[in-house]
Amino acid sequence: MRQSLCTITSNVEISAGVRLMWVEAPNIAIAAQPGQFITARCEDFILRRPLSIHQVSPLSSPSMGEDLGEGEIALLFQVVGGGTAWLSQRQVGDKIDILGPLGKGFSIPSVIAKHEVPKQSKNLLLVAGGIGIAPLTFLAQRVSPWHQVTLIHGASTAAQIYPLSSLNKVRFIPVTEDGSTGEKGVVTDILPDSLDWADQIYACGPVDMYKAMATMSLRAERSNLKKCQVSLEVRLGCGIGACYGCTIPTKKGLKKVCQDGPVFELDDILWEEVRI
Ligand code: FES
Repeated sequence: MRQSLCTITSNVEISAGVRLMWVEAPNIAIAAQPGQFITARCEDFILRRPLSIHQVSPLSSPSMGEDLGEGEIALLFQVVGGGTAWLSQRQVGDKIDILGPLGKGFSIPSVIAKHEVPKQSKNLLLVAGGIGIAPLTFLAQRVSPWHQVTLIHGASTAAQIYPLSSLNKVRFIPVTEDGSTGEKGVVTDILPDSLDWADQIYACGPVDMYKAMATMSLRAERSNLKKCQVSLEVRLGCGIGACYGCTIPTKKGLKKVCQDGPVFELDDILWEEVRI
């Protein structure tokens, strides 16, 4: 975990109210794992703003021995309050105070054995609701060289669907509530079609989406949802495990989202007691 003043190299709006920011952060880029996050100091706000690590540049794994270049990270965020509004107005060349990488990310099936013999490829199903696409894009980039990856992204309209040009090995299924592109409905409507195919499921989205998935998981015919990791997006206080402001109830007791997560097993969380 490093705290750095990082230079912004790009900050653009990619859809209404959603911005993609790249910052120079070599120490974070080389250490980051999909599902981890950073916190950014936003002007005079006391609480730092948590943001998922959305991509690292170049798009490679350090284990592949490739050059990490300038070591930039991308942050994808929705402008929803004063902190993100302030971030949205930063210009190329400005510096922001970033702390990370933080938290525990997704567990990924290993692909390289000790003697570099590729293990069996898996079918990985990634399920994103809205801005939940942010950490799953990084995950898709990291696993798609070795595994079959399907990414379902749900949004209200076509304009909010993520432009997925950088993920050419990923099967992408857009879902919109108004049917303006892809399947019509919400991601949990079409999720059952892919469950039998999937060896492992990863999800990031709103709590209602997780509760619907947890309900499916209770049904015997959807038992492979028991192999599902979810990334929780909750309001954080300190972001480093010190304040207990982010606890959630699990079958293993209260857990801190910022330190024990943000990734948990879907079936470990006591969803009926979660109040987010
Ligand atoms: Fe303080 Fe998690 S935000 S313990």
